[in-house]
Amino acid sequence: MALVNENYLKLPGSYLFAEIGRRVAKFKNDNPDADIIRLGIGDVTRALPPAIIESLHKAVDEMADLQTFKGYGPEQGYDFLIQKVIEYDYTPRGIKLDNDEVFISDGSKCDTGNIQEIFGLDNMIAVTDPVYPVYVDTNVMAGRAGVLGSDGKFDKITYIPCTAENKFIPELPKNKVDIIYLCFPNNPTGMTIPKCELKKWVDYAKANKAIILYDGAYEAYIQESDIPHSIYEIEGAKEVAIEFRSFSKNAGFTGTRCAYTVVPKEVMAYTKDGEAIQLNKLWNRRQTTKFNGVPYIIQKGAAAVYTEEGQKQIKALVDYYMTNAAIIREGIKSIGLEVFGGVNAPYIWLKTPNGMDSWSFFDKLLTEANIVGTPGVGFGPSGQGYFRLTAFGSKENTEKAIERFKTRLKI
Ligand code: MLT
Repeated sequence: MALVNENYLKLPGSYLFAEIGRRVAKFKNDNPDADIIRLGIGDVTRALPPAIIESLHKAVDEMADLQTFKGYGPEQGYDFLIQKVIEYDYTPRGIKLDNDEVFISDGSKCDTGNIQEIFGLDNMIAVTDPVYPVYVDTNVMAGRAGVLGSDGKFDKITYIPCTAENKFIPELPKNKVDIIYLCFPNNPTGMTIPKCELKKWVDYAKANKAIILYDGAYEAYIQESDIPHSIYEIEGAKEVAIEFRSFSKNAGFTGTRCAYTVVPKEVMAYTKDGEAIQLNKLWNRRQTTKFNGVPYIIQKGAAAVYTEEGQKQIKALVDYYMTNAAIIREGIKSIGLEVFGGVNAPYIWLKTPNGMDSWSFFDKLLTEANIVGTPGVGFGPSGQGYFRLTAFGSKENTEKAIERFKTRLKI
């Protein structure tokens, strides 16, 4: 008799964005004429920039030629891309990395989900709350989370509330934790963390031999100075942090798939006997066994991000979405709702009107204004009473959505 992995049975019914999709599909079915504007899932809508397209085309042609054809590539990624990542994303910030500390992959969702495999099952996990659901769900699947209580929390996970009350800055936990997921600029709140606060976490990790899993997928959206672009800007972070970055949100790769994960050789975790083990080696072992690398063509496309034209074009993309973010922020504020984020991130996090719960507001917004957003509680119990909108739509739809907020939403 085949047995299932019963940990999967502990998961909530469906992945957040699948549940939203289900509700929207039902609404569409019941209201076929509704002109729905989707500001829910954080998926980009602009086409890939020309420099990237050109590079992709060239790479396709190379695959057609016996002389330049490529079969399996290195599981860790091609050096031509790794070198550019280091040269552009780290060296200018005074961060020194070796090529074999950067692992090219097909996405930060996969990497932040898979990374937990290299850690023991007895680790205490901490997440900020609200949180990108992948961090929690993958630990549930692995059997590290315990059971889901009526408070919406798994009993073996430490939830660190990030709400308006603490300005969305996570406070160090009272209990000891071993693995901490941090995401800044934050998904879903769109808020950032100053260096002095991030330093507290690095110091905590060093003092407790803990590891920080730092998701920097939205780094390109940082506009203000003084906000860390990489956790390695904090002294000592290379000993305790793994960082995830992606081409999805800065260069429009959500459907093209390319990202990278930095695992410095100094980062150690321990055997039960206290022997220090390099996580870089374990991640390399995991990737070489389970992953055959990102397609050459796609890596060539990603490398074009780091050309002069590519840099200009991805900045224009980010600017486009940040204009939307400003339109949403100002529009929502003008109708008297409290709004956060959207200054250094493509997400706007608002307080629902009249203390309404997140899913009720989701239904109200969909019914009255035909707008899809993401209920804050879907990201964790501290997201209750909040709601997320994304700036990744077209400018036209963003303006239309805000007009509907003003004219159709009854609050
Ligand atoms: C989101 O809406 O939170 C994004 O789709 C996250 C992701 O990139 O998977």
